[in-house]
Amino acid sequence: ALVDRGGYRHFMLKEIMEQPQVVAGALRGRVNFDAGRVELPDFPFLEDEIRDFRRVVLTGCGTSLHAAHVGRYLIERFAGLPAEVESASEYRYREPFLDSDTLVVAISQSGETADTIAAMQDAKERGARLLSICNSEESQAARLADGSLYMGCGMEIGVASTKTFIASVTILFLLGIYLGQARARLSPEVRRDLIADLASTPRLIGEMLADVSQYKVLAQKFSGYNSFLYLGRGINSAIALEGALKLKEVSYIHAEGYPAGEMKHGPIALIDRNMATLALAPRDRLYDKMAGNIKEVKARRGIVLGVLTEGDTELAAEVDDTLFLPTAPEHLYPLLATVPLQLLAYYIALDRGCDVDQPRNLAKSVTVE
Ligand code: G6P
Repeated sequence: ALVDRGGYRHFMLKEIMEQPQVVAGALRGRVNFDAGRVELPDFPFLEDEIRDFRRVVLTGCGTSLHAAHVGRYLIERFAGLPAEVESASEYRYREPFLDSDTLVVAISQSGETADTIAAMQDAKERGARLLSICNSEESQAARLADGSLYMGCGMEIGVASTKTFIASVTILFLLGIYLGQARARLSPEVRRDLIADLASTPRLIGEMLADVSQYKVLAQKFSGYNSFLYLGRGINSAIALEGALKLKEVSYIHAEGYPAGEMKHGPIALIDRNMATLALAPRDRLYDKMAGNIKEVKARRGIVLGVLTEGDTELAAEVDDTLFLPTAPEHLYPLLATVPLQLLAYYIALDRGCDVDQPRNLAKSVTVE
C-alpha cells in the first residue's frame, strides 16, 4: 500500500498524531519571521487587488465548512474585512450577491465535493475572485480556482477529517494575517507576534498528544451517553460544531454543537443527568461567559466535561471531568482545542466498537449533490 497506518491501529489516530508536522508543513515557506511577514507565493491576486476587496465569502461542506467558520473570525479580526460563511450545499438555492470585489474562499480536502464545486462555478460566473484551500493539487477545485493554497498534508484516509481541518485552519490564519498585512491593518510587530505564536503551535499540539491515557478513561465514562451538547463561544463556537461532528461521525452518538449563548433558547430544555455537555472554556476573552454556561448546566444536573486551560482549578472544581489545554495566546485556542475533541471522539468510538476509519453511511468524498 502507498500509505500505511505507520504502527497505529487506525488511520484516524495516525492522522491525529501527525498534526504537529501538519501545522509546521502548512507554515513552511509561508512565513518570514524577521520581516514579520506572511508570504503566500501561490496567492493569485496582487496587493493592489487585495486592497480593493470589499468582502470575503467562505464556503465548503462538513469539516471544511467548520474550518470556514473559524476562518471568518480570523479574517474579520486580522484583515478587518466583512466575512461570511455559506454552506456550499445550500449555496445554489440562494441568490448570493457576489462581484469582483468579493473574494470567495472554497475549502475542500478532496477538491471534488460536488456541492463545493457547484458553489465555486456559480461564484466564478458571478465574477467573484476565487481562491481554494485544498489538499489535492490534481482536483477540480484546484483547476477552477484562480489560485490555491495547498494543505500539503499527504493523503487523508480516515473518513472523518482531522489533520486537514488543522491544516485548513492554519492556512486561514495565515490568510487572515496576509490580507491584514496587504491592507495595512497589522503592524510588523503584531505580525511578528502572531507568526511566533503560530510557530509554537506544533510543539503545543505535540505536548497534548504525548499522553493519551486520560482519553481511554474518559471514553469509558462517556461512551454510554446517548446525547452530547458541545458548547463554545466566539471563535470556539466553530470548534464546538466540529467536535460534535467528529463524535457523531465516528461513534454514532447524537451530538450537537452550539454557540453557548444560544443554549438558553432551546438546548437548555434537554439538560438532565443523562445529557453530557462538553464545554470549551479556555482562558480567553469569553471565559466568564462560558463559566456562566457551565454553572447553568450544573444547576440542572447536567454532566459537564470541561476543556479548560491548565491550572484552572476554579472551573475544574465546577465540572465533572476535565481536559486541559496548554497555556497559550487566546487566538491559538481554536487550533489547540480541536485536538482533544478528536481524541475524545476516537476513543469513545473505539469503546463502542465502531469502525472509526470507515463509519457507516459516510463517504470520504461526496461527488453527488
Ligand atoms: C464528506 C466527508 C467529510 C468532509 C466532507 C467535505 O462528507 O465525510 O469528512 O468534511 O465530505 O469534504 P471535502 O473534501 O470537500 O473537504
